[in-house]
Amino acid sequence: MPSGKSRDEIAEAYKSEPWWYDLRGFFILTFAYNSTLGAQLRFFGPHYGAEHLEVACGTGTLLELILRWRKWKKLPRVHIVGIDYAESMLAGARHRFAGNPDIELKHADAAALPFPDARFDTANIANSVHCFPDVDGAFRDILRVLKPGGTLAANVLLYPRGPWPLKGIAGRINRWGIRKGILYTPYQQDDIRNRLVAAGYEVMSEDVAGNCYNVLARKPAG
Ligand SMILES: C[S@@+](CC[C@H](N)C(=O)[O-])C[C@H]1O[C@@H](n2cnc3c(N)ncnc32)[C@H](O)[C@@H]1O
Repeated sequence: MPSGKSRDEIAEAYKSEPWWYDLRGFFILTFAYNSTLGAQLRFFGPHYGAEHLEVACGTGTLLELILRWRKWKKLPRVHIVGIDYAESMLAGARHRFAGNPDIELKHADAAALPFPDARFDTANIANSVHCFPDVDGAFRDILRVLKPGGTLAANVLLYPRGPWPLKGIAGRINRWGIRKGILYTPYQQDDIRNRLVAAGYEVMSEDVAGNCYNVLARKPAG
């Protein structure tokens, strides 16, 4: 099912108006992932260390909501570096976070991060593993820039499961996403777990809800 698109073609496909990007994101979250915003906030929100890397931050819509959720939960302020390969997405994030001293934004490929080894305490990949053309390269390079004991939280779009008509709707959205270039491929849970372990992570916790695999993995401490 992979689209075979390059990272530049994928970045081109992410050149859309912010209102359309957000609306489309809502439909994909609801009908392809079969997930909710609340579930994403509860999964990603707690996993922000003092120095955090937000991989494929997009325009920062979700990141901004997570930061509000963290404030509401009285969790500590952290320093965040957000990276994305699509300049148009980053432009949206730069506008959104202008003047926010806690957030730095950089143009970068998830599989070739411009950071030294062991720079970050934590990293997240939200709603984006499905569009990386080199997911193993991304997992390896994120591991490199994490400190020993540092964690990676990721949610991964799975091949549609569950009852009719939800499975059929998710399948149609995925095929449309692949044609558009905003989806490279969905995954199977075991495939992602095996790739994380092969890259050198320890899987700490995992769960599947709807068509979404939430996984928390750690760079071994020693
Ligand atoms: C569906 S958006 C998710 C954005 C954000 N994390 C969220 O949840 O709202 C996927 C993002 O992945 C980015 N992306 C795709 N391939 C990438 C790569 N190789 N390196 C960095 N970012 C990439 C796209 O440009 C896009 O902004």
